[in-house]
Amino acid sequence: MKRVGMLTSGGDCQGLNSTLRGVAKALYEEYGKEVEIYGFRDGYKGLIEGNVRLMTPRDFSGILTIGGTILGTSRQPFKNMRDKDENGVDKVTKMIKTYKDMNLDCLVILGGNGTTKTANLLREEGLNVISLPKTIDNDLWGTEVTFGYQTAMDIATDVIDKIHSTATSHSRVFLVEIMGHGAGWLTLTAGIAGGADIILIPEIPYDLDAVVEKLNERKKSGHSFTIVAVAEGAISKEEAAMSKKEFKAARAAMSDPSISFKLARELGERCGQEIRVVNPGHFQRGGGPDAYDRILTTRLGTGAARLIKHKQYGNMVAIRNDQIVAVPLSEVAGKLKTVPVDNDLVQAARDIGISFGDETIGKKDKDKKKDKDKKKDKEKNKDKDKEKDKDKKD
Ligand code: F6P
Repeated sequence: MKRVGMLTSGGDCQGLNSTLRGVAKALYEEYGKEVEIYGFRDGYKGLIEGNVRLMTPRDFSGILTIGGTILGTSRQPFKNMRDKDENGVDKVTKMIKTYKDMNLDCLVILGGNGTTKTANLLREEGLNVISLPKTIDNDLWGTEVTFGYQTAMDIATDVIDKIHSTATSHSRVFLVEIMGHGAGWLTLTAGIAGGADIILIPEIPYDLDAVVEKLNERKKSGHSFTIVAVAEGAISKEEAAMSKKEFKAARAAMSDPSISFKLARELGERCGQEIRVVNPGHFQRGGGPDAYDRILTTRLGTGAARLIKHKQYGNMVAIRNDQIVAVPLSEVAGKLKTVPVDNDLVQAARDIGISFGDETIGKKDKDKKKDKDKKKDKEKNKDKDKEKDKDKKD
């Protein structure tokens, strides 16, 4: 008899249920009555407290399109895993005890960065663990895509699409705040897909002057409105220069509810345009997975079942070059996949005139002029060389 435990941990997102379904259906197909699947309630909390139930094939039926997670979830920060309770027992010890008492063959863990760090910790403690990459932030290292990301991108894009009508009708500037603290993937892609004019992401610190300049330039050139896609984790150049401690203190002292509100206030003081903030927040994690995520989660889930069959534990199931692969948890844990600043997506956005708020137009023009001058010099030199060659031959 195979005994498999499953849990979903951290923030919910689209595709958790379809992933659980993929794992379970493939296991039931493979082992029939020779497999028992146990669902832990509310993520690691269920594993810590032994809050678990035996699932049946019916539990996994009809959940492909359902949002959230049938197992429930909670945030159990990695940094607190070694905290001891009143009896001097830490959470890791409790999780190991539950696993051993239940005589499990392995644990399938669906989660993002923090969850994966804890999964790796359990692996180091000798448990058989397989993780699956969940997060709308798409910031898990080791996989090209995480599930939830594409569906959230559709939602965030839809918000930007729909805000265009009020922005144009009222000639306003709209700041649309998109989820993602550490990485700007969602803001970048939804910003491009939604036709944002300015995109601010944590990887490219913004300069307020450059944002103001872009707003003014759009107004001057006859555009009555501007859409700014702002990542939750967007930071200014001044903040980027701060130490971690200074930055934390600055943000703690911030009176605005979020970075978009702060920016809206600062821009309002500078450019005299009417500005509004839209924050779709957890809507971005809401509802069921789109077709892409249904397929991705079915592939990842069945990939996990294959790893269980071959006892290839200690891995995260990932997608690379459109292939389902196993990536060692030891390689993945603790690494954030951020947007490289020279990424092709960033370049494509710049090429169509989207500003990342990192350079003033004056500087951009100067750079363009420098490039042109360099080109001219090169051509002049080429002509000179040609003339010299000709002289030699003559
Ligand atoms: O990690 C997913 C995510 O939605 C982030 O984009 C966001 O910063 C965070 O979770 C919000 O967390 P919570 O649901 O705990 O407010």
